[in-house]
Formats: sequence, C-alpha cells, structure tokens
Amino acid sequence: MSLLIILFSLLFFPKYPSLCLGLRLPLRHPQSSDNPLHDLYRSSLLRAHRIKNPHSKHSSPIALSVSPHSYGGYSLPAAFGTPPQPFPLLLDTGSQLTWIPCTTSYLCHSCPSRIPAFLPKLSNTSRLVGCRNPKCKWIHPASTRNCSQTRQQQPEACSPYFITYGSGSTAGLLLSETLRLSDQSFPDFGVGCSLISDRQPAAGIAGFGRGSVSIPAQLNLTRFSYCLISRRFDENPDVTGTLILNEEKPNPNPKNSLIYTPFLKNPSIDGVFSVYYYVGLRKITVGGKKVKIPHRALVAGPDGGGGVIVDSGTTFTYVHPTAFDPLLAAFVESVGGEFNRSLAAEEGTGLRPCFDLGEERGAVRLPELALHFKGGAAMRLPVENYFAFVGRGSSVICLTVASDGGDGSLGDGGPSIILGSFQQQNYYVEYDLERERFGFRQQSCVMSDK
Ligand SMILES: *[C@@H]1O[C@H](CO)[C@@H](O)[C@H](O)[C@H]1NC(C)=O
Ligand SMILES: *[C@@H]1O[C@H](CO)[C@@H](O)[C@H](O)[C@H]1NC(C)=O
Ligand SMILES: *[C@@H]1O[C@H](CO)[C@@H](O)[C@H](O)[C@H]1NC(C)=O
Ligand SMILES: *[C@@H]1O[C@H](CO)[C@@H](O)[C@H](O)[C@H]1NC(C)=O
Repeated sequence: MSLLIILFSLLFFPKYPSLCLGLRLPLRHPQSSDNPLHDLYRSSLLRAHRIKNPHSKHSSPIALSVSPHSYGGYSLPAAFGTPPQPFPLLLDTGSQLTWIPCTTSYLCHSCPSRIPAFLPKLSNTSRLVGCRNPKCKWIHPASTRNCSQTRQQQPEACSPYFITYGSGSTAGLLLSETLRLSDQSFPDFGVGCSLISDRQPAAGIAGFGRGSVSIPAQLNLTRFSYCLISRRFDENPDVTGTLILNEEKPNPNPKNSLIYTPFLKNPSIDGVFSVYYYVGLRKITVGGKKVKIPHRALVAGPDGGGGVIVDSGTTFTYVHPTAFDPLLAAFVESVGGEFNRSLAAEEGTGLRPCFDLGEERGAVRLPELALHFKGGAAMRLPVENYFAFVGRGSSVICLTVASDGGDGSLGDGGPSIILGSFQQQNYYVEYDLERERFGFRQQSCVMSDK
C-alpha cells in the first residue's frame, strides 16, 4: 500500500522560491508563538508534568528530525540494541510492524545496492521472541499451534513473519530489543528482524499505523505529529522536518491552532484494514467546483472496500479509478481549454493529466485542489503539492496523483483514496490517538537551526 518510487526528477514552480527563505523556524517548537511568555508557559507545564508524573517517563515528548529521500519517503533517526546501532527508519503510518534488515547475509531482491543491517549478535539486549511470548500473538493472532520445548527446555521461537509491504515484501523473525529514539530508550520493544526482502527502500520501516505491534501502541503514545519538508530537499542533510511523539498540549492559541476531523473505523469484520487511519472526506473541489465522486468511494463499506486513509509511506496520493476519472475530468475541463495536454508526458510518467505550459511556465494560474473533511476542516493544497514539472527545464506539468486503469469496481477491497506524503508537504499534521482525530495546518516545515 505504501511507497511509490518516484521515477522522474521533480522540479517545482519557480513562482514559489520563497518556501525556504525568511522562515521563523517554528518547527523545533511547532506550537511556539512570538510571545516569550507563551514559551515559558509551555516549559513550566512540561516541568510540572514531569514532577507530577515521576513514573511516566515515556510520556515526555520526543522530537526527531525527518528527512525526505529520492525513493519517495521520509526517514527518522533511530537506534536499536546495546550498545546502540543507529538505523534510519522510514516514517510509515500505513504499516504496523517496525522491521529492519538484520543479518550480514541479508537477501534483498530489487533493492538499493547499499542497505545497512542491524546485527543482533553485537547487542546484549537482543532476544528472539518465543512462541509463548504474548508478542508472538501480535504477528500470528489466529495461530492455535502448540509450542514445543527444545532440548534446552526453551520454548521454540515465534514462527517467522511474512508481510507484503508497498510494492515489495519481507520475512524474518520477531526480536525483543531496546529501541532508542533521541535520548530515550524503550527496552523490550518488538521489532522485525528481516532476513529476506523484495523491493525495500534504503532504510528500515517505522510502523506508525494502528494495532498492538505498532510504535504508538508499544510506546503508549497519546499523540504524534510530523511536519514534512518539501521534496525539493531530497537527500539534503542540512534541512529537515520534524516528528514529535507525545507532544504536550499548549494553551490553545487561535493563531496557530490545528483544524481537526475525526478518525473513522473501517466497518469490515476481518480486521485487515484496521491498521490504517481512516478519515471522512466529504468532497473534493477543483477550482471551487465539487468533483462528482461516488459516495461509496468516499466511505468504507461493510466489505472494507472504499474510504479514505492518511498514509505517510505513500508518496503520491492514490485515487481509485471510480474517483479518479471525475477528478481527471475536472482538471481537463478547468485547465485543458488553456493549455495542451501532453500525452507523451502522460505515457512517460504514468501520471494524468499533464499539460504543456509552453512559454508561460511559472506565470500561470492553476485551479485550487481542496479536500473537505467531515467536521468542516478543509485542506486547500498549495499548487506545488499537486502539480510538478516532469523534469529540469521542462514546460510540462503533471498532476501528482496516482491511479490505475482498474475496471471501476471497488471490489478489490482497501481504501479508495490514500492521502500520500507529497500532498502533505509543508503541513503540520497531528494524529491525536487519545481523542481519535486527525489535525492539520499549513505551515513551512523547514527546521534549519541545527
Ligand atoms: C551490555 O553492554 C553494555 C555496554 O554496551 C554494558 O554497559 C552492559 O553492562 C551490558 N549488559 C550486560 C547484561 O551484559
Ligand atoms: C496442544 O496441546 C494440547 C495439550 O497437550 C492438546 O490437547 C492439543 O490437541 C494440542 N493442539 C495441537 C493443535 O496440536
Ligand atoms: C505501556 O503500557 C503498558 C500497559 O499499561 C505497560 O505494560 C508498558 O510498559 C507501557 N510501555 C511503555 C513504553 O511505557
Ligand atoms: C497547442 O497545440 C497547438 C497545435 O499543436 C499549437 O498551435 C499551440 O501553440 C499549442 N498551445 C500551447 C499553449 O502550447
């Protein structure tokens, strides 16, 4: 479900060069204001919280930097083991299990040439999860197999996991190991030790989805939030966005407050979609006009098909053909009268529609794409979040929304719209797990005061 590899270079609108200039650097303290009293208020609250809750050391906030990569995802710095072995993880709200390549003889098919591996034998806190360990139920919930004893009277290891991930797959054994994030450590964290994979990005996977094996569940997070910087900073170590776990709620400041929409449950009983964060998308507008999307695409049905999820591990938002065809038609109607469609670019990129702006590149007005959520929250995307030039110096732009040539039925199950990270650039996004809601606001995400 996650991670579309971007196959072509992206170049953004020359109209928007100011994205990285003159920032107030609000990101290390995303809720901080111009008012120093407000910052003091915040630090006092944090201090009071620590004094009042001496045993809840893991509910204090953790701030991490996140970096965009040319493979299409955003990574965060983590480390596993004792002594710690640093390991970058891809921030993925569409996965449950956190997993890392885990042997020097890692077998990886269609993978980047240099993938680092975690080596359990160099860590004195690595333990294989046994088949009687409750963590084993996380990956084999339905198993009724009896655990036999080995010669050393140890119960046998939990059976290997095999999961499909994005366009690839991975298999390995579940480890209990110390996870380290920033200056905090979490002993006995359940992490997948992958031995063999197919099509893996150059990082491990941080499972921020729902479910008992996920990072939010294992760390008892009440909320987490991220702010993803522009993809123009791919592989640039000097500028990063942020990921914040368990952020304290500051005094509501109307100037920079988030707007929220509730998380929804997928009604299907078989539970395969329960890992995802569903939101209620009421309508999509292009240039202020409502796109005629069938209701059954926007709302998950009893068989689990349909509905809208937010997924940081998907690059370009995916839209099922039943919803994509009217969206395409809306853009063609709105832009096509003015600019020629470039079928060559559409063939080359797989994206639709593409338009040739000719001499006018950079000076054109394109219709606004807005997502209107349940509760009234609207995400009015800046144009660089949904159109990109197909290459350096090109005058052709394409809509950065992916769809397949499906037959129009939703019977293949799963969400019909997957809101990807490309569309979330320069948004501060919060997953409030306590109040079961998704919050966001548009802001610059560059944190460059490192
Ligand atoms: C594990 O290794 C660390 C040093 O990396 C050491 O301080 C610690 O005592 C070791 N623990 C055990 C149980 O051997
Ligand atoms: C598991 O063990 C119990 C008790 O020894 C036995 O009754 C049961 O049939 C076994 N189940 C399986 C699936 O082997
Ligand atoms: C999370 O909560 C569970 C149950 O209350 C507890 O056993 C576990 O130690 C907690 N984990 C962390 C990392 O605080
Ligand atoms: C569109 O195509 C026509 C015919 O090929 C051409 O004359 C015209 O200049 C093109 N318009 C733009 C804006 O490129």
